[in-house]
Amino acid sequence: MPKQVLEQLETPALILDEARMDRNIERMRSQMRRLGVSFRPHVKTNKCIDVARRLMETPEGPITVSTLLEAEYFAAHGVKDILYAVCIAPNKLDHVMAVQDKGVQLSLLLDSMETAGILAERAKAAQRHFDVLIEIDSDGHRSGVTPDAAELVEIGQFLEGTGISLKGVLTHAGSSYACRSVAAIRAMAEQERAAVVHAADRLRAAGMACPVVSMGSTPTALFAEHLEGVTEVRAGVFVFFDLVMAGINVCQVDDIALSVLATVIGHQREKGWTILDAGWMAMSRDRGTANQPVDQGYGVVCDLDGRPLDDFILVGANQEHGIMAHRSGKVDTARHLPVGTQVRILPNHACSTAAQYGHYNVLGPGHEITATWQRFSGW
Ligand SMILES: Cc1ncc(COP(=O)(O)O)c(C=O)c1O
Repeated sequence: MPKQVLEQLETPALILDEARMDRNIERMRSQMRRLGVSFRPHVKTNKCIDVARRLMETPEGPITVSTLLEAEYFAAHGVKDILYAVCIAPNKLDHVMAVQDKGVQLSLLLDSMETAGILAERAKAAQRHFDVLIEIDSDGHRSGVTPDAAELVEIGQFLEGTGISLKGVLTHAGSSYACRSVAAIRAMAEQERAAVVHAADRLRAAGMACPVVSMGSTPTALFAEHLEGVTEVRAGVFVFFDLVMAGINVCQVDDIALSVLATVIGHQREKGWTILDAGWMAMSRDRGTANQPVDQGYGVVCDLDGRPLDDFILVGANQEHGIMAHRSGKVDTARHLPVGTQVRILPNHACSTAAQYGHYNVLGPGHEITATWQRFSGW
């Protein structure tokens, strides 16, 4: 295929800046080396084998997934060590077994005696072996048992009695996204670490091996000062970063590797608006910066080289129309970009913006598109 340049792409299009992505990966890798833990990247952000291959420690993994379709897809590309890090639902167990049948060591997650009981029944009925981690709630963010809960040890003892392998404990400090300073992220990382290590210690004190102690989110992974007692870290969004991460100083705006290429299709000059062909179908509905000190609307508008146009954001989004304006709302600061001008928009949340597209246009030096990498969606 002859090489294309940005100017030739039909818009909206998803652009992945390869050099920025590689820089982000190297930053995470060096932090993992410093912390002395193994890395189990979360591939839900990228859903793309070409990206995942750059993240994984070996071609066979390990990786973390958020859907069984991810497990299936990555298994088909040779990945063998997969952690499905959402509590298992009974109706997914046939799918789990189909993935296991592809030679994958697939670890499951649960956080209740109820699910442990269901899993034990299915294991017995289907004569199957399951590897399981117990989810620990380290920050009150969503699911998991608290590290001091009696149920933690009860689940562990119950699983051992059924022959299901209890591999360990897992936590995800999703509250780190709401931290407002690096000091607060550091404190959250320590809270996450201490909680999951304490849970592992309790299981061990009750006679269980608990070899895996797994934690991670992008903010806590990058700012943890030490991870004593933790065996592996998971992180996903760091590979691209986004405005939410920049808004809490986990990265700089010029670390953001993902953008949406869009085109000017009109103006409402009396309102100071420039209309783009990228609305919420192109950016997603994610408004993750709405509660941050700087609200970035539906995204930050940049020139074709990826440089932010000072204080121009998508202030509104319809399905296929994006409304670009100065964040002040002042008409006299409007930019008059002619129809046909291309811009690039940085996303609030990389996972949800990427999910709107079937492939990445990989951006190399200058404006050159060096490759097209397929990604998938759905369950
Ligand atoms: C269980 C689990 N682990 C790890 C992650 C990765 O977090 P992040 O994308 O902040 O790196 C997520 C993200 O939602 C998650 O749900």
